[in-house]
Amino acid sequence: MNPIPGNMTKDLFSIAGKVAVVTGGSRGIGLMIARGFVEAGAKVYISSRKKEVCDRVAAELSHIGQCISLPTELSDEAGAKRLYEGVAARESAVHILVNNAGTNWGAPLESYPESGWDKVQALNVKAIFLITRTFLPLLQKGVRPGDPARVINIGSIDGLRVPLVENYAYAASKAAVHHLTRVLAQQLGKKGITVNAVAPGPFESKMTEWMLGQMKDLIIAACPLGRIGTPEDMAGVAIYLASRAGAYVNGVVIPVDGGISTRP
Ligand SMILES: NC(=O)c1ccc[n+]([C@@H]2O[C@H](COP(=O)([O-])OP(=O)(O)OC[C@H]3O[C@@H](n4cnc5c(N)ncnc54)[C@H](OP(=O)(O)O)[C@@H]3O)[C@@H](O)[C@H]2O)c1
Repeated sequence: MNPIPGNMTKDLFSIAGKVAVVTGGSRGIGLMIARGFVEAGAKVYISSRKKEVCDRVAAELSHIGQCISLPTELSDEAGAKRLYEGVAARESAVHILVNNAGTNWGAPLESYPESGWDKVQALNVKAIFLITRTFLPLLQKGVRPGDPARVINIGSIDGLRVPLVENYAYAASKAAVHHLTRVLAQQLGKKGITVNAVAPGPFESKMTEWMLGQMKDLIIAACPLGRIGTPEDMAGVAIYLASRAGAYVNGVVIPVDGGISTRP
């Protein structure tokens, strides 16, 4: 029998040379993804509000590869435009956009503030829509034959099942992120851009510090794999979605939670 020519899997997970933008890339899940991308040879722009933190993290990641800091507030259209202009001044195309920046608000139903609701919806849902729309010109220039540009939205298992804590706006926002992902995938797929979501379970971050401090054992006990997520788990799924390996995946929500969301 003749051997099959070539090596199909050689560059299957490569993202080397791609240009990526990771919102909220200065810490937590965004940093896990940004670091994974930089280590895998992508040029990565990170953005968050605190300039000194964003600059320091980009400088640290620049010891491994290429990372540029573009700090800005991102929860309104002006922020989306500032980030776009910062990237457009330096790049002619973007291949990967990770909409990761997010916020949470927990409070009892009776005292849940309108301001908390609005803050969460503005960053977690509206900003994903506005940033994706604003970045379309650069994303379209990032489309290559057989290699779509990629939008990766960070949702949550709290948008898949009812959470343990009272975070009404957050859970609703993450369900919205998942559905917005499907809606955008229909439209942008026609332009050669895929849109997918990752729904993380528990990962160490500033956002989960309080919750993991209070109920880490309970959360681990509820996880079929018996642990919380690691940076490798998050970088792995993002690299898969951004590489040739994930090029035919469009409009899906991938839980990365050790199976927590499958519990009855
Ligand atoms: N950690 C988990 O277990 C978990 C689970 C499910 C889903 N998620 C999702 O994963 C994403 C990242 O969460 P995380 O846990 O890594 O949270 P985190 O540690 O609080 O990080 C949030 C990031 O977003 C930035 N950010 C916050 N508000 C911003 C704003 N208005 N404008 C621009 N940047 C802003 C923060 O930097 P600045 O404060 O400097 O702006 C930071 O870089 C979120 O969408 C979250 O909902 C996390």
